[in-house]
Amino acid sequence: MPLKILVTGGAGFLGTSLCEALLDEGHEVLALDSLFRGSLANIEHLMPHPAFQFQNDDVRNVEALDACVESLGGLDLVYHLAAINGTKWFHEAAHSVIDVNINGTLRTLELAMANDARYVLASSPEAFGDAEVQPIQNGNPMQFSDPQQHQRHSYGASKYLDEVAAQHAAREGLDVRIVRPFNAYGPRLNGGDYGQVVAMFFNAVLSSSPLQIHNQGSQTRSFTYIDDITSGFLKAGLMDLSVSGGTLSGMAFNIGSTEEVSILELQKRIFETVQADASWNQPLPTVEFSEGYHGDAVRRWPDTTLAEAHLGWRARTDLANGLSLTWVALR
Ligand SMILES: NC(=O)c1ccc[n+]([C@@H]2O[C@H](COP(=O)([O-])OP(=O)(O)OC[C@H]3O[C@@H](n4cnc5c(N)ncnc54)[C@H](O)[C@@H]3O)[C@@H](O)[C@H]2O)c1
Repeated sequence: MPLKILVTGGAGFLGTSLCEALLDEGHEVLALDSLFRGSLANIEHLMPHPAFQFQNDDVRNVEALDACVESLGGLDLVYHLAAINGTKWFHEAAHSVIDVNINGTLRTLELAMANDARYVLASSPEAFGDAEVQPIQNGNPMQFSDPQQHQRHSYGASKYLDEVAAQHAAREGLDVRIVRPFNAYGPRLNGGDYGQVVAMFFNAVLSSSPLQIHNQGSQTRSFTYIDDITSGFLKAGLMDLSVSGGTLSGMAFNIGSTEEVSILELQKRIFETVQADASWNQPLPTVEFSEGYHGDAVRRWPDTTLAEAHLGWRARTDLANGLSLTWVALR
């Protein structure tokens, strides 16, 4: 039975792949996106699909959300991905980050409640803030630094409050699942100034411009290929019961690779990926070291026990393979 599914942020990096996968599963999908960072180019291949609709609007606009439900002819499931994402924004536009990320979540939770629809929240490991305890797992302290020093945590704290609101809705009876993707990467990743590191490094290669590493590059991340992230979202939204029985509502899943890699190591792996391509004969870019953003996490490494136990999920694409797939798509 096809579900009627709203994907907010559906023209973004993760949203586009999620829409593709949901359509492949035979569902009816409406993507809502303000195109703040997503693009029509991302979703143009989906436009002719008879079960796909797109609405260019703001996720905080209640009338627009109601119109989405009307267009779908009902609502079974909300995937809420719309948010302002991209580290530069967190510092430059903290007010908008807080406004969009929190109010977007509140409005979509209300929509799901009014329609008795299941709800999946795209949260973030940044909901744990400075996250001194690793690996990141439920129950760890969520800790944030003094906003007088920097506003980096406009994003992480908004995701923290999103989780609070989602857990509150779960206690009120809504079927809510929380997904925390860890550094997703893959072909459509944004590589501009407001983008993410894997795409920025590949862009430096493609444009022969200096590749910038923040600080000494010793900070680590857990890079997770887009197909793995998408399958985590699919499972979190579409599974009715956990493998062991019971309900998934109120559960928060870390969806991330457990392969921990420093930024310096990432740069080396990207150069190896490019050098393995015999048809690419441009020189590699120079590597420069520069001061990073205030508040950048030293580590972001997931405990994925819950996702493995309840969703049967774990990352299947190793970094070497994922980088090759990304390079082939980008060049
Ligand atoms: N990519 C990651 O590694 C990662 C990690 C942790 C969490 N997340 C979360 O997953 C979700 C998707 O991330 P992404 O990487 O695809 O980022 P993205 O920026 O590509 O996607 C977010 C989408 O939301 C849209 N949007 C922004 N403001 C909006 C508004 N007011 N109304 C409607 N749409 C709006 C943007 O245009 C964009 O298309 C976000 O909530 C993000 O915080 C992503």
